[in-house]
Amino acid sequence: MMWTDLLCHPLWAASTVLLALVLRQQRRARWDPRACAVQLKGKTAIVTGANTGIGKFIALDFARRGARVILACRSEARGSEALREIREKSGNGDVHLRLVDLASMESVRAFAKGVLEEEEALHILVNNAAVSGLPRSITKEGFDLTFATNHLGPFLLTNLLLDLLKRSAPARIVTLSSLNHWRGEIDFAHFHGDKLTYFMDKVYNHTKLHNVVCTNELARRLQGTGVTANSVHPGVVVTEVMRHYSFVLRFLFQTIGFFFFKSPDEGAVSSIYCAVAEETDGITGKYFDSDCSLTLPAPLARDAALAVKDFDVCERLTSKL
Ligand SMILES: NC(=O)c1ccc[n+]([C@@H]2O[C@H](COP(=O)([O-])OP(=O)(O)OC[C@H]3O[C@@H](n4cnc5c(N)ncnc54)[C@H](OP(=O)(O)O)[C@@H]3O)[C@@H](O)[C@H]2O)c1
Ligand SMILES: *[C@@H]1O[C@H](CO)[C@@H](O)[C@H](O)[C@H]1NC(C)=O
Repeated sequence: MMWTDLLCHPLWAASTVLLALVLRQQRRARWDPRACAVQLKGKTAIVTGANTGIGKFIALDFARRGARVILACRSEARGSEALREIREKSGNGDVHLRLVDLASMESVRAFAKGVLEEEEALHILVNNAAVSGLPRSITKEGFDLTFATNHLGPFLLTNLLLDLLKRSAPARIVTLSSLNHWRGEIDFAHFHGDKLTYFMDKVYNHTKLHNVVCTNELARRLQGTGVTANSVHPGVVVTEVMRHYSFVLRFLFQTIGFFFFKSPDEGAVSSIYCAVAEETDGITGKYFDSDCSLTLPAPLARDAALAVKDFDVCERLTSKL
């Protein structure tokens, strides 16, 4: 008998499927948003990249809790589709679409201007949108495209909305980082696309480190304002994240992911926990793991002096535009 025959044995197949299903159960977070009764009536929330993946489920959760939700998306078509779906599933008509391209500081400013003109309050800001696997590309404002989308755009957006958040306190800022931040490095030349290698998600990893570093420094600056700022890891989640990768890699990710990775609604849990749970009220400058536990981020993300410097550099880079 060949070893391959053994692999095909029905008992083998059955036990593998069983094991996979058990593991699938195991990956659930210990906090269940459906068991959380917190209501958000009278509260306003913004979720970036809310048309698909994790962001869509975060926005849907807020909508179900009765919040006024603004979906900050870059595509009118994809955004409208999600808007319709979220309104329908939540029965909440107070969900709105506003367009923003986070890779463009000009677009971020225009978006923030609209929000400041039309919104009386802002209680929750979720920086969810991000890209990965993009080849080298420099925006017309002179930034590496991945850095602009994942870090500088969200950084500027957050800063522009800060006064509104403070006026609306208590308010919470949640930034989706990633476990990948452990493999990131900080080099200020990266912002402009210098000294970057576009291999194995290196650039993405750097941006996810900046997310945690600047969120921690923001939290320090916000002490006493009633506005909290935290970062979260959503888990490894089967979404459209792999869209810029080859078909083979995407297929592998989807197949392995079905058993071992989280679905987008499961991936949204740690962000929802951070944004709405009573247990996280007042917690700031922390990093949440995908199972909703507080964990320490990488050493570089705990370097307070580096954080001050990084925040200053990002402020200078984005304030000119
Ligand atoms: N999935 C994972 O395994 C995983 C793991 C760790 C961390 N995360 C983090 O989780 C967050 C959500 O990821 P996801 O997996 O849900 O990804 P996704 O399915 O690819 O969704 C990303 C969202 O961001 C939007 N977006 C991309 N570029 C944008 C831009 N320039 N301006 C405005 N919106 C833009 C996309 O809009 P379009 O649809 O129009 O492109 C989409 O709505 C990200 O911060 C990611 O780093 C994900
Ligand atoms: C980016 O992070 C992922 C996950 O930690 C890792 O597998 C990958 O090798 C990292 N990329 C580089 C180039 O360090």
